Amino acid sequence: MQLFLDTASIDEIRKYARYGVVSGVTTNPSLLAKEGGVSYRERILEIAEVVDGPISAECVSRTADELVAEARELASWHPNVVVKIPIDEEGLEAIHRCSREGIRINTTLIFTANQAMLAAMAGAAYLSPFVGRLDDVSTDGMELIRTCVEIVERHGYGARVLAASLRHPMHVVQAALVGAHVATIPPTLIPQMLKHPLTDSGIHRFLEDAKTAGLL
Ligand code: E4P
Repeated sequence: MQLFLDTASIDEIRKYARYGVVSGVTTNPSLLAKEGGVSYRERILEIAEVVDGPISAECVSRTADELVAEARELASWHPNVVVKIPIDEEGLEAIHRCSREGIRINTTLIFTANQAMLAAMAGAAYLSPFVGRLDDVSTDGMELIRTCVEIVERHGYGARVLAASLRHPMHVVQAALVGAHVATIPPTLIPQMLKHPLTDSGIHRFLEDAKTAGLL
């Protein structure tokens, strides 16, 4: 499983890219809105200088023709741009048309296996089921990831399942266990995944003993 950062914050991306665990980035209009009016294109280009992997940029158009035009524009910004299109009737047509042109599509706002299957059939490169938002409405979001992975693998679709809307470290472990190809996470999850009090106390004890042993 690869790890992507789910943020439009260049500071956060720079900070965590140093660890060597970030294979890509996902953004959306809500994440961009937190960035104080920065141009979307400029931010994607800044991200591309830091992370050498897929960078999702999301369309906001609502008809298939407009989505295709917007997707072409977003994809022209950088070869690593993957265009996010929400799944609905217009979106599905746009996914198909864009994929045929070679524009890689990350299908977003997936809440059912049927939506995922249609997007995969239409040629999407990534399927993004939203785990946390399903959990929020008392539905098992991770079960949807499991189902999508099984469908994609059993039928040999080219799409990769990207577990999105992950909220806590156990989501990341569960996504790995059910076979998600990618997990996109808020940057704050990395320190949460890394930290353990026994590691901290263990380091402290080794340092004290190193002093006793004359190593320090
Ligand atoms: C990523 O591609 C999604 O847009 C994102 O993970 C949604 O997360 P949220 O449900 O926390 O807004």
